Amino acid sequence: MLAPSVSDDSRNNVTDFVVKKGNGIKGLAESGLQSVPKQYIQPLEERMDMLSIMTHEFIPIIDMSEGDYLSVEKAICDAAEKWGFFQVINHGVPIDVLENVKEATNRFFGLPAEEKVKYTTKNSGTLNVRYGTSFVPEAESSLEWKDYLSLFYTSEQEASAFWPKECKEQALEYMKASELTIGRILDALMKGLNVTDIDAKKSSMLMGSKRINLNYYPKCPNPELTVGVGRHSDISTITVLLQDDIGGLYVRGIDGKGWIHVPPVSGSLVINVGDALQIISNGRYKSIEHRVVANRSKNRISVPIFINPKPKDMIGPLPEVLEKGELPIYRTVLYNEYAKHFFNKAHDGKKTINFALIDINNFM
Ligand code: OGA
Ligand code: NI
Repeated sequence: MLAPSVSDDSRNNVTDFVVKKGNGIKGLAESGLQSVPKQYIQPLEERMDMLSIMTHEFIPIIDMSEGDYLSVEKAICDAAEKWGFFQVINHGVPIDVLENVKEATNRFFGLPAEEKVKYTTKNSGTLNVRYGTSFVPEAESSLEWKDYLSLFYTSEQEASAFWPKECKEQALEYMKASELTIGRILDALMKGLNVTDIDAKKSSMLMGSKRINLNYYPKCPNPELTVGVGRHSDISTITVLLQDDIGGLYVRGIDGKGWIHVPPVSGSLVINVGDALQIISNGRYKSIEHRVVANRSKNRISVPIFINPKPKDMIGPLPEVLEKGELPIYRTVLYNEYAKHFFNKAHDGKKTINFALIDINNFM
């Protein structure tokens, strides 16, 4: 298929309209676009090859209300080791809390551009509130078909003062209502590493800070040419993701080649291991590459909560994990440095974690 040709002039116009004026890709998609503009066309190797989808593989679905809690904990650890991704049902977060935050996401993105643009980092008056599009447009050679609002939680007061009123309460409610579930999952994962004493330092490394994103993927005339989100792994310890019923999230299969769809399951939450937990567990738990394919006929939303170390925390393999003589694969890094490294470049699959890899050549 021939790529639509777009002159340099209209290329600048697109960037201006989508990125600078705050219309987002949603604004452009709604302008009656027949094909994706040139800057959204991904190189062949970054487009989803439909033949690589493994239709017979599924990530586990874990029922957290099952009577025998030991077996739930074991299922969580097994899934985090093998797949790096699983879904949980009967997780204890009330369904109406989930519905409300989805509604709030649609309400925020339904605002006119001149309202949304108030929440770009430049305009919001805080680094902790960021409305944007794609991932890092300044550093990307092709853009992603996605708009987002990213909210870094510091306190109720700050959220009250700076988060958009269209979604503030619902986002806070979702974060609060999921705390217990997150604690249970992290506890189970730590038990699996023989870590039973979670002191203040460990607790900070595991869940010292939180970021919630509201993602909007408008329908796309050529989903085969672009990406909703390019291949990446999260830099969290764990991510809790709420998705709507559209689908389009794919995770890398355990063979490292194919892609597995994460089917929307009503009322479920998708949990995945991030790079910070892969580092802390010295590679036992896997932070798996994933991506989103945009939809031709429907808009999609998702709401991930990234559970992170505190920016000032030093993270590295826990002593308990190395107790029996296992050699560390990762060095200890300042989490803020790690995050900066991630946010300074385009999405690039699993490459971010090389930043913390111990170069074995140094020992030879
Ligand atoms: C992310 C992500 C997946 C989705 O925001 O890091 O991978 O389904 N999102 O939106
Ligand atoms: Ni992700």
